[in-house]
Amino acid sequence: MHARTAGDAPAWKDAPAWKPVNFFGEHVASRYDVVSAEMFAPEQVDPAVQFLAGLAWGGDALELGIGTGRIALPLSRRGIRVQGIDLSPEMVARLREKPGGEHIEVTIGDFATAKVPRRFSLAYLVYNTITNLTTQDAQVACFCNVAEHLAPDGCFVVEVGVPQLQRLPPGETVRPFSVTAAHLGFDEIDVATQRLTSHHYLIDDGKVEVVSMPFRYVWPAELDLMARIAGMTLRERWADWTREPFTSESESHVSVWQKRGG
Ligand SMILES: C[S@@+](CC[C@H](N)C(=O)[O-])C[C@H]1O[C@@H](n2cnc3c(N)ncnc32)[C@H](O)[C@@H]1O
Repeated sequence: MHARTAGDAPAWKDAPAWKPVNFFGEHVASRYDVVSAEMFAPEQVDPAVQFLAGLAWGGDALELGIGTGRIALPLSRRGIRVQGIDLSPEMVARLREKPGGEHIEVTIGDFATAKVPRRFSLAYLVYNTITNLTTQDAQVACFCNVAEHLAPDGCFVVEVGVPQLQRLPPGETVRPFSVTAAHLGFDEIDVATQRLTSHHYLIDDGKVEVVSMPFRYVWPAELDLMARIAGMTLRERWADWTREPFTSESESHVSVWQKRGG
């Protein structure tokens, strides 16, 4: 077996704590829609688009980490003007290739700090992408940046997993999340910093490709506090896009914070 690391992906250990690093370069972007095919299925996309369209109230929407347009394109087909921010020109190039993708304005930059000179009635950050910000400060900065971009009473929606620490035995730091013939995946968790690194070993035709990506997991109550710091308050929290109740068993949540009117 030959092991190699993803060609253009930076080594996670070299990633500075503060400066955002583009982990979605050409190697990831060229395969993103195929590797994430399940997330592009109508049963995943349609409820999210329905939920977001309802909150936009016909106003404009800003997607942080717009990627290849999985949600932005169907949302814009609902008549909502969507703009995006993304760090990866390679992901945005894939969005541009799709029908309607050429009309969506995207700012290339870090969504914790990048500015778009407009106000929106809705901002959203889906598919665990808040955890791509690997420090608490960066996550707080993201909430503050969103608040600056929202019109009074505008809403910020985050879809993210609940940290699965109950599944981590005491004293352990590693948790497998996928063990199949084609994919070995495990998270390496540091409970002190809330940083985790997801390691993927992708096995194909006797070759192994290793991809590792850093994240910072974040608790629902911690997000509420970040929202409060940014001048927003929790309006709704659900287990998923279909508004199933959020309970102590929920493994992820869709939360909506509202900017205080002014
Ligand atoms: C998991 S993908 C999600 C893409 C899209 N929202 C979706 O649901 O398919 C994460 C996206 O966020 C972008 N991203 C990650 N960290 C970022 C940051 N700090 N600033 C801007 N974009 C970022 C990546 O380049 C990538 O396109």
